[in-house]
Amino acid sequence: MNTLTKNSIFNDRQILLGITGSIAAYKAADLASKLTQAGVQVSVILTEAAQQFVTPLTFQSVTGLRAYTDTDLWGSEAHVLHIGLAEGADLLVIAPATANTIAKLAHGQADSLLTITALAIRCPLMIAPAMDMGMFEHTATQVNLAMLEERGAIVVGPAEGRMASGLIGKGRMVEPEELVGHIRLTLGREGSLAERVVVVTAGGTHEPIDPVRVVANRSSGKQGFALAQSALDRGADVTLIAGPVHLPTPVGAKRLNVETAVEMRDAVMTAVEGTDALLMAAAVADFRPVLTAAEKIKRRDGVPVVQFEPTDDILGLVTKRRSETGRPTVVVGFAAESQDLLANARAKLEEKGLTLIVANDITAPDAGFAVDTNRVTLIDAQGEVKELPLMSKTEVAEVVMERVVALLGNGD
Ligand code: CTP
Repeated sequence: MNTLTKNSIFNDRQILLGITGSIAAYKAADLASKLTQAGVQVSVILTEAAQQFVTPLTFQSVTGLRAYTDTDLWGSEAHVLHIGLAEGADLLVIAPATANTIAKLAHGQADSLLTITALAIRCPLMIAPAMDMGMFEHTATQVNLAMLEERGAIVVGPAEGRMASGLIGKGRMVEPEELVGHIRLTLGREGSLAERVVVVTAGGTHEPIDPVRVVANRSSGKQGFALAQSALDRGADVTLIAGPVHLPTPVGAKRLNVETAVEMRDAVMTAVEGTDALLMAAAVADFRPVLTAAEKIKRRDGVPVVQFEPTDDILGLVTKRRSETGRPTVVVGFAAESQDLLANARAKLEEKGLTLIVANDITAPDAGFAVDTNRVTLIDAQGEVKELPLMSKTEVAEVVMERVVALLGNGD
């Protein structure tokens, strides 16, 4: 199961979730559930048409809060309800949004609790359209969406795929997982790293022996991806340079896929131009085969002897460049150690000229490669040592990113 760990981007947040009359309304229940589990207070408003597909009870059951309908609009607290809902909201998400509701929003019509609330909000508005391809492509819908975007609304999707009509085309509501990514991007856009440029590397590298065989390592990329997400949550412009790992790209990150240490080096050296912080979480190969066979090495030719040569130390190149240009301001390295954790990590911090090093003992079963938890120690250039308890990789990323925020300070 895919759950969202509670973290600061969702703490004390209030999201209004508007549901309109589309079959994709069933997916909105999953979205409401995911957000609630992440710690968001989700207040749901259903239109009349939405209730043909799902019920308020569906949403009350997953959010633990009341779900509102137009019946509430005519109730005893009607005159304050929409104002009350709108006041505390950090974001109004309308998912799914039908062509009809989009038209009403574009023209400021207010004939339901949802459309009245949409006029009362002062927070951002996010719309996830869901409709038949023909309706989406119709000039009326396109013009309405353009008007809304012009006024600052965030339109997410629709995605391509099979629609309720059986046709394949653009009109499906984007998946809840992806919507959550857009939601956190919006919630974080004025965060502590707004206007900062952050580069994160993640995963291992593959050094080819022949066209089918590689020298690899056990890095899963999870810690690096969590760091990229944390930087996005704080409003940073994020480039994620990833080795060969199979993880979804956090929404908003610019992902560059690389295979080898040389490709990683070239991608990093290009990306760090104008960067505020580099977090080098990738497990880059230290050695690569001197020769890569052009053809597959055959078994009948006997056991091959593979000779290795060192790769460039990317962090070393980055900090050398920093001594000339001053950028990146903050350079964070990671030390995966199997012995003498602190002494080895300190030596790396100094040798590589880092601002901060995140050290972990890879021999612990609950930390390091592949698992979802990590136990790390932070050591900074001033010699301060902070040992952290066992945490999820998301939590480790949060702590590291808070340090990066502090290290960057107010200036540049
Ligand atoms: N690193 C790098 N370039 C390399 C190898 C590693 O920039 N060619 C970076 C890693 O991304 C990490 C840090 O250096 O942030 C430390 O990596 P690690 O493999 O622990 O250290 P090494 O310097 O390779 O030393 P050793 O393997 O001997 O422990």
